[in-house]
Amino acid sequence: MAHISIRNVYKVFGDDTRRAIELDREGKTRAEIQKETGAVVAVSDATVDIEKGETFVVMGLSGSGKSTLIRMINRLFDITSGELLINDQDVAKMSREELRDLRMRRASMVFQHFGLFPHRTVIDNASYGLEVQHVKKAERHERGRNALKMVGLEGWEERYPRELSGGMQQRVGLARALATDAEILLMDEAFSALDPLIRREMQDHLIELQRSLHKTIVFITHDLNEAMRLGDRIAVMRDGKIDQVGSAEDILVRPANDYVAAFIQDVDVTRVLTAENIMRKPRGTVFLADGPHVALRRLDEVQVSDMYVVDREGKLAGIVRDKELAEAARRGDRTLEQAISQDYPCVEPDTQLHNLFPLASEYTTPIAVCSDGKLLGVVPRISLLDTMSKFEGGENGSSD
Ligand SMILES: Nc1ncnc2c1ncn2[C@@H]1O[C@H](COP(=O)(O)OP(=O)(O)OP(=O)(O)O)[C@@H](O)[C@H]1O
Ligand SMILES: [Mg+2]
Repeated sequence: MAHISIRNVYKVFGDDTRRAIELDREGKTRAEIQKETGAVVAVSDATVDIEKGETFVVMGLSGSGKSTLIRMINRLFDITSGELLINDQDVAKMSREELRDLRMRRASMVFQHFGLFPHRTVIDNASYGLEVQHVKKAERHERGRNALKMVGLEGWEERYPRELSGGMQQRVGLARALATDAEILLMDEAFSALDPLIRREMQDHLIELQRSLHKTIVFITHDLNEAMRLGDRIAVMRDGKIDQVGSAEDILVRPANDYVAAFIQDVDVTRVLTAENIMRKPRGTVFLADGPHVALRRLDEVQVSDMYVVDREGKLAGIVRDKELAEAARRGDRTLEQAISQDYPCVEPDTQLHNLFPLASEYTTPIAVCSDGKLLGVVPRISLLDTMSKFEGGENGSSD
């Protein structure tokens, strides 16, 4: 069961909503419909399932319907047509009570301009969502304090928003959403008002938090780099329609249409794709227990000049190169001990491609991708160059 299920959802602003939807189904554009009926089809026939614990990013140009879509999830906007279910419960059919509960306890919003109360302390801001739920002061402060700790604002409880930087204020906004324990976070351009560096910091923070919290996050942005960093999946919207839903890689490598392709043109793929995304299986490996002759034969079989050495558990033990192996064989060595080298490039799977370039220029050996000491794959220099060439200008793309 999807956490949030959006099925053929329409939102039309205006009077003649029925006619507008009819025209939309006939294939008329938003502009044509507006001209004919005066109504704006803000969201058109949106269908998508958002899974529990995923970070789902909605992106698209201004006016594409992102905010309208997110606001239907907690019914700040009524749905004109279609169905929107949260845990299989139809949002349109919720009673006033259920709706209150949805907004206060189950789905918290984080806004672009923080929305803090200037005359309340940080702790009172962070625990505001609990105050409206009439949670007793001691408990709400306890939970507010915990939430502030999560966002790295321990010790700032008694300060006022004006004493905090923009990034810190946004963290209070995030803490307020976290304090309610809501399972869904709705974040509409939550980081867009921040400076590029602070914004990146907030993204890192959210990624880190999400690793342990596993909230269902619907995150709106018009920034593709942000979308690709944060999103498990990304929906691209245009003129109220969802054009494509997929992983960052899906969208980069297989854009659904020209609009999406144009969108990704200036994305910095070196900061979006990671070693894991482009790694290959090594052409071969040598076992630690092998001798120099066996190792040489393996190199010869696949025509390479070096190979990674792994132990029985698949842990990376080092690298052997043809020259040292040949010498060891000539000496009559029985083990690889004298031939094995620890001088090789090695990165974690989530290393961004731009961090691979220095290694690729220093070593001709494919870069080893390791996790917990295990060799997961390799990134040959040619794969790195090939990936870059697919995204012309990617190397010089924006990096904020
Ligand atoms: N309350 C409203 N009444 C009438 N039209 C509206 C209303 N809210 C939004 N719209 C229209 O619906 C369309 C989608 O707006 P929406 O705010 O969802 O876009 P958005 O993708 O969030 O844009 P932005 O990136 O600028 O925030 C726009 O054409 C907008 O003019
Ligand atoms: Mg918006």
